[in-house]
Amino acid sequence: MAFFRRKQTETIDLTALPQHIAIIMDGNGRWAKRRGMPRKYGHSQGAKVFRRIATYCKELGIKHFTAYAFSTENWKRPQDEIDSIMKLLDEYLDTAEKEFEQDEIRLTFLGDRTRLSEELQAKMNDIERRSSRFDNYCNIAINYGGRDEILHAVNSYLAEHPGAEHMTESDLSAHLYTAGQPDPDLIIRPSGEQRLSNFLLWQAAYAEFYYSDILWPDFTERDLDRAILAYQQRNRRFGGV
Ligand code: FPP
Repeated sequence: MAFFRRKQTETIDLTALPQHIAIIMDGNGRWAKRRGMPRKYGHSQGAKVFRRIATYCKELGIKHFTAYAFSTENWKRPQDEIDSIMKLLDEYLDTAEKEFEQDEIRLTFLGDRTRLSEELQAKMNDIERRSSRFDNYCNIAINYGGRDEILHAVNSYLAEHPGAEHMTESDLSAHLYTAGQPDPDLIIRPSGEQRLSNFLLWQAAYAEFYYSDILWPDFTERDLDRAILAYQQRNRRFGGV
């Protein structure tokens, strides 16, 4: 059996990795405030951590990684903060544009992108299309809400099947933003909060949850090891015994 060793206490089994890890990148604002810095500084550190953890997931062989970058509720934040998050996304796309071929990453975006700037949408559509031949998914949830996603799935299905009277679970799954991808096995939320916050509501049905008090900008590869280790020590029964 292949084991991945770092410290004696942190050994993850590389043969039993989650297929899909999803992370709520929480705690950026508090991290910045503790340093007497503006919230946007926390987001810029958070974006660096996102890059490191996405790369680490790929190195471990985790095929699906999802990060919650901006929710449908985050529009309530001050415009300056919203602008700073959109700018970080834009900067990331410029880097990813140059690196996705080498890293063999498939970038996809979950959420309603119609509210984003046309320039950002064009970049997202372009990189999504050009990276679609790879199968290491990096999903960024942006203007994403789980309820919004379910409604969007139902409405797209009805538009394709006028007069339809019922849908199956697989019809619904096939119309989600994550269509074709496995549901997350492990959802991680740092920063001490223990809520789902409208994230992957449908897909989270059988996910394991891992909470940590670490604020996202302090989250490291070792924290991901800990989360995976905790996941591997659980007994997933999917409703069975
Ligand atoms: C939640 O923490 C974080 C966000 C709403 C934004 C997350 C965005 C990024 C990390 C940048 C995204 C960029 C890329 C490249 C994906 P919070 O600000 O609510 O933290 P708080 O609870 O401490 O206030």
